[in-house]
Amino acid sequence: MPTPLYDLLRSLAGRDLLRLDMPGHHGLPLPYDLPWPAELDCTENGLSGDLFGDGRDAIAEAEELWAERFGFDSCLFLTGGSTQGVHAGLALLAGAGGHAALDRGGHRSAFNALALLDLAPRYLPRPWLEKEGVAGPIHPGQVEKLLDDRPEIKTVCITSPTYYGLLSDIPAIAAVCHAHGAKLMVDGAHGAHLPFLGYTGYSAADAVVMSAHKTLPAPGQTALLFANGSSLDDLRQVGSVYGSSSPSYVMMAALDLARDYMEGEGAARYRETAARVSALREKYPALREVPGLALDPARLTLLCGDGFALADRLREKGCLPELADAGHAVFICTCADGAEQFARLDGLLAAEDFSNPAQCPPPPELPPAALTPRQALFAPRETVPLASSEGRIAAEQIAPYPPGVPVVAPGEVITKKTLAYLREIGYNRKLVSVIRP
Ligand SMILES: Cc1ncc(COP(=O)(O)O)c(C=O)c1O
Repeated sequence: MPTPLYDLLRSLAGRDLLRLDMPGHHGLPLPYDLPWPAELDCTENGLSGDLFGDGRDAIAEAEELWAERFGFDSCLFLTGGSTQGVHAGLALLAGAGGHAALDRGGHRSAFNALALLDLAPRYLPRPWLEKEGVAGPIHPGQVEKLLDDRPEIKTVCITSPTYYGLLSDIPAIAAVCHAHGAKLMVDGAHGAHLPFLGYTGYSAADAVVMSAHKTLPAPGQTALLFANGSSLDDLRQVGSVYGSSSPSYVMMAALDLARDYMEGEGAARYRETAARVSALREKYPALREVPGLALDPARLTLLCGDGFALADRLREKGCLPELADAGHAVFICTCADGAEQFARLDGLLAAEDFSNPAQCPPPPELPPAALTPRQALFAPRETVPLASSEGRIAAEQIAPYPPGVPVVAPGEVITKKTLAYLREIGYNRKLVSVIRP
């Protein structure tokens, strides 16, 4: 399969260049880490070096291969993680100063984007799944009701899958948004592997960001922003606002190679991983697919008595879960894990007692907002003990796991109910940042 960017960098690295430019290592130890902009006339393949210009180049070719593979009009390589993509995607779809509906389970990058773009938020609360003790998927019906009630909302942003692996019905939600003249942005930070497992839901959205580094064989901070109805130039323009003017060639070439690997061996190995995860879900209490609950087939979320204690015991034995909370342990299983890794995990889990799963209470109702996200981001702040913060306005998110959604968002009032809930779930943070009176 073609790897246009990697091939170009390899051919350049093989040449006897006297590099007296940036980056200062001049090729040692990273020969593929070339200057940016690459003003090398020897780039006979026509690498423009202008990442945010409009010429066709090896980077654009590599990005186009991703866009085609995932069913989008355009794709932008990101070197600032999904954080960069959430900011850029919301700027692309929503612009500044309008109204947006945000999944209450959104990542803090989405809350920060609201603030920077001065978007007035309406939150989409997630239904609580009592048995599983986690926040459930966003339903198309709740999006429809919100857009019926608030026709001024023209951008909807949801996260799918969640950290726990829950997928929302993106095509159905996109259809609702489009019927209301609104656009859908999906934070798919945890889902970059899903299209390689046959999942096609993402391409119904107007923009989707995915962290390659979370679930694909790709280095930290590599991510992808996909869009429909927007050109590569559009993506480059918004991407440049939030990214470095010298994005790393090494990271972008890694994205080129990751796609190539995932087209063949990577997808086959991922299918094996999904089958092994499915076997562990049968063997141990875990989040499982049931009618109305679609899951990332590679994410293993175990339901246990005390996830923190379980994670500690596993870490002592050299096994590192991604996330632990009061009632769950979450494992990111990828194509990098084979029979040996799964046998080791199985052996460790077999020694554990899963007979008493924890009861995780639903989060309290949303607290009142006293400031907009933008006012809260830029207001003077101070740090106070959480226990004595009742009535104060939060300057940051308070987002324990579970539910994995902010119980308090920036600008909202910390209420008695919030503090009671945080005590009930054993939230162990001592200090919180609040707005200075
Ligand atoms: C749902 C979600 N969105 C966005 C991000 C930001 O991703 P990145 O670390 O690639 O910037 C994260 C990070 O954990 C996340 O969980």
